[in-house]
Amino acid sequence: MQAYSLIAPAKINLYLEIIGDRPDGYHELAMILQSIDLADRIDLRPNGTDQIRVHCDDPEVPTDSSNLAYKAAALMTEQFAEVYRKFGGVDISIAKRIPMGAGLAGGSADAAAVLVGMDLMWKLGLTLIELQELAARLGSDIPFCVSGGTAIATGRGEQLAALPSVDFLYAVLAKHRSLGISTPWAYKTYRQQFSSSYVTDRDSLLERRQRVHSGDIVAAIGQRDGHKIGQCLHNDLEKVVLPAHPQVEQLRQILGQFETLGVMMSGSGSTVFALVESQAQANQVQQQLQAALPDPDLGIWTTRLSAHGIQLAH
Ligand code: C5P
Repeated sequence: MQAYSLIAPAKINLYLEIIGDRPDGYHELAMILQSIDLADRIDLRPNGTDQIRVHCDDPEVPTDSSNLAYKAAALMTEQFAEVYRKFGGVDISIAKRIPMGAGLAGGSADAAAVLVGMDLMWKLGLTLIELQELAARLGSDIPFCVSGGTAIATGRGEQLAALPSVDFLYAVLAKHRSLGISTPWAYKTYRQQFSSSYVTDRDSLLERRQRVHSGDIVAAIGQRDGHKIGQCLHNDLEKVVLPAHPQVEQLRQILGQFETLGVMMSGSGSTVFALVESQAQANQVQQQLQAALPDPDLGIWTTRLSAHGIQLAH
């Protein structure tokens, strides 16, 4: 059986609107998710044992059953128990490039790569829809990580509608390395503070869900209008994360002073990104930020928006 190496891209949220509560305890969302070139690399190798073993070059990443990549492999062994009995377990090596606790779906991307890779390794021939159904059981943004690109995500985040690619744009990502933000905390705090504004009846929910499809940012993406996309960036979770984390607020303010298309926090943070038109502009913003905030704890990455989800590494 063959070994496989996969590229697992991070994502940013160009748009994140919280619509209401769901009976399953999650939130009803309307998002626009965007893959970026910043990616982990996942190597999968059959190990001839009955075990799933995770290795990572970053000692801060847990390698036990709490790792989403492990959970993805465990789900495959449960779902395809006979194949697993025949072929045995897998070694998963993660080259970690996507920062953690960042709102960039790093763990989700790794899990998506394990699903895609084990499908190939075990020659299961799963369809994209079958892979995304498995992905949704592991986490709300993992189905998107499988297919990637640019997409509207509604429901929990798992209902996807592909949009035209905006891979002509670039982003500068900035994050205090020591500051990770818990996604459950961000949503729980949002519920505590804003649930009075939640949509509760089904018609309003469907109307709000539909509104994003015909909204300004989707039109701007269709028109390949980077300036308009930058003006339409939105993230409801900023309302709880920025007041609680002055470092994120400061990053957002400083990036907002530079010449960019727009600035926004990604997911539940702590990454703030600036959308820009070229690699040259990204480099310039990176230098300006380094000069304005010379903090060794500050990580800055420049990246291009990507049209791809999980891919085989060459
Ligand atoms: O699905 P996932 O495990 O990635 O979600 C992490 C957490 O984010 C959930 O436990 C929940 O607190 C919150 N969440 C939510 N509504 C969503 C997606 C995530 O409340 N649609």
